[in-house]
Amino acid sequence: MRSVVQIVPTHSVLEGGGFKVRRPYSMNRILSPFLLLDEMGPNVTGPGEAVGAPWHPHRGFETVTYLLDGRMQHEDSAGNKGELNPGDVQWMTAGRGIIHSEVPHDEFQKIGGRTHGFQIWVNLPAEHKMMAPRYQEIPASESPTVEREGVWARVIAGECMGVTSSIDTVIPITLIHVKMEAGAKLNQNIDPLLNSMIYVFSGKVTVFNETRIKTRPRSFGFGVNQQIRDGELAILSEGPEVEIQSNTDSELLILAGPELNEPISRYGPFVMNTREEIEQAFLDYQNGTFAN
Ligand code: FE2
Repeated sequence: MRSVVQIVPTHSVLEGGGFKVRRPYSMNRILSPFLLLDEMGPNVTGPGEAVGAPWHPHRGFETVTYLLDGRMQHEDSAGNKGELNPGDVQWMTAGRGIIHSEVPHDEFQKIGGRTHGFQIWVNLPAEHKMMAPRYQEIPASESPTVEREGVWARVIAGECMGVTSSIDTVIPITLIHVKMEAGAKLNQNIDPLLNSMIYVFSGKVTVFNETRIKTRPRSFGFGVNQQIRDGELAILSEGPEVEIQSNTDSELLILAGPELNEPISRYGPFVMNTREEIEQAFLDYQNGTFAN
């Protein structure tokens, strides 16, 4: 059974054109293969006030955008164009290079409203960092969901309660949005070879720790069942399964992926293995060969 080995708190920062995100501290060193976990908002904006991230490049990883409230529009240098509405997922593999714009939808800007969602960066192994860009869009209506005994889940990637996602990921990734009624319980299988973590963004849950009879009562992962509160990211130990019980009505993400065990050289929107590769990305971007 997986238990909690570390609780990482979040803080609010401004991203892109100036929108507020909730982000775990020192996310870039937290858990392979995840490079970023940003909870966008929730923000309520008036007409014309919403901001996004206008044209910018990425190389060497994937960006996953999952919208809960609001409406966004996307356009990129590979010719993809789309919009995101509540429940929609956009899985963009930047690979060797993509330049894109992710901004509030024109219609949303006219009336304003609430924006809430996630952007997650998933690293690519060295052998796939320069792959051709790829774009997958899964509207809420085609996104697999499952509901059982007070637990609702959208399976963005991986498997939950017997339901499997339709997304094609480069490396094995689990990404599940879970809503739990107070008192509900979920036993989630996780491939023992993957790292995993839980991010709670509403309410409070408890992760069952089968080693609770051990004699280190105040240490994380030993001696106590661990509570995870709104705005906390819990890093889990190894094991085939995690048992989550909700103390209140709660919402969370379950994430899992492999340890890549490769050096990371990171600068802004580029995530490569060496400093030379980062310099090459800048050169390619400056001389116009970046996203060709
Ligand atoms: Fe981006």
